[in-house]
Amino acid sequence: MARLTVNNQPLEFRLEPDTPLLWALRDAANLTGTKYGCGTGECGACMVIVDGQAMPSCTLSLGEAEGRSVTTIEGLSTDRNHPVQQAFVAEQAIQCGFCTSGLIMAAEALLARNTDPTEADIGVALTNICRCGVYPRLVRAVQRAGRAMRHEETLTPVPAPATATTPGL
Ligand code: FES
Ligand code: FES
Repeated sequence: MARLTVNNQPLEFRLEPDTPLLWALRDAANLTGTKYGCGTGECGACMVIVDGQAMPSCTLSLGEAEGRSVTTIEGLSTDRNHPVQQAFVAEQAIQCGFCTSGLIMAAEALLARNTDPTEADIGVALTNICRCGVYPRLVRAVQRAGRAMRHEETLTPVPAPATATTPGL
C-alpha cells in the first residue's frame, strides 16, 4: 500500500511497493496518458513530474513515490490548454504522439524553473527519445511556450476533439 498525491488528489494504491509507478498510474488510476516505451528509464515516454522534477515513472517504484506529489499529463490542464500543450500544437511538434506526453511533462518541469531556455538548456533537460524526430519543432515549441508564460505571446486555444456523440447513435 502507498499513499501519494496524484494530480492534486490524495490516492491510496493497494499494490506492492515495488510496483513501478507507471503501472500504478496506468492500470490502477486509469491515467493512460503516461506511456510505456523502454521500461528502463531511457526513452522518457513515461515521464511525470514528481515534486517538481521530471522523472521516468517506469523506474520509480510506488514505495519510492510514497508521500510525494505526482503530476501526469492529465493533471496539466482540464481542457488541453496549458501553454506547453498549445505551443506543441502550434509548432506541430507531434507526429505519432507516442512520446508527446513525456516530452510535455519534461518541458513543463524545465519551464517551471526557466521560462527562457536556450536550445542548449532544452537539449540538456529534454533527453526524451522521439523516433519520429520532432526535435527541431520541439525546441521551437518549448521556447514558444516560454514566451506565452512570460506573457510575450498569446497562443491559440487547442480545439476540442471531434468526439461528440449524437444522441440515439
Ligand atoms: S518507458 Fe520509462 S523511460 Fe522509457
Ligand atoms: S512523435 Fe512519434 S515518437 Fe515522437
